[in-house]
Amino acid sequence: MTRSATLPSLHGWRLFSLLSLLVLVATALALLWQPQLVEALRSAIRVTARTSFALFLIAFLASSLALLLPSPTTRALLRERRYFGLAFAFSHLIHGVLILTYAKLFPEVFWNGRSVPASIPGSVGYLFILLLSLTSFPRTMKALGGRAWKLLHGTGTWVLAAIFCLSFYKRIPMSPWYALGFALIFSAIVLKLVAKLAQRLRREVQPTRAPLVTTR
Ligand code: HEM
Repeated sequence: MTRSATLPSLHGWRLFSLLSLLVLVATALALLWQPQLVEALRSAIRVTARTSFALFLIAFLASSLALLLPSPTTRALLRERRYFGLAFAFSHLIHGVLILTYAKLFPEVFWNGRSVPASIPGSVGYLFILLLSLTSFPRTMKALGGRAWKLLHGTGTWVLAAIFCLSFYKRIPMSPWYALGFALIFSAIVLKLVAKLAQRLRREVQPTRAPLVTTR
């Protein structure tokens, strides 16, 4: 089956554009839904955190799913992983723009109960999102070199997974729904570790066979 037969025209930058448009529509709906600007901003911040989370999960698990459950769908997800990752970065860019707007327009509400040290994990997350996005293009990938690229992207994705874990975990007292978000990211981490183990065992059994999928 050809690539165009599996995913008619939804791949590459077209897929990225559609996902980004969906993020913008969800953000606009969240902003319009609430009559009070402060609540509208907070609601849109939550919505973009959730769109980011969904896109991150796909990019994070694509290689594991292709290894553990090989099928045309999981192979297509793996092939498009870069565009899901970049759409995640776009969604988090909107999360960041909304946070800055919220902090500028309502500093008393924003800083109430928040401290600069508490913002360190989120800021580190943004640094990694920037580095991962900048090095997701053929030219920058080549300039960085295979080993450094693997190290950066391997570390970055685990750091972001840890930040999602922390972000959901600290909000569990606010609503039991956050336990669902925490359970999802925790299960994704377990699945990724299982895939890594399966890949290692496969390599030990068939050391000469080239890997079909590399999990990072
Ligand atoms: C310094 C950087 C960041 C700041 C200041 C920040 C701020 C916020 C705020 C204010 C909310 C909640 C809005 C509300 O409920 O009133 C929120 C929600 C959230 N953020 Fe961020 N954020 C940052 C970075 C990140 C990063 C890097 C991630 C993940 C990689 C992330 C994931 C989340 C999640 C999962 C939620 C909960 C969404 C929900 O309600 O379901 N944030 N953030």
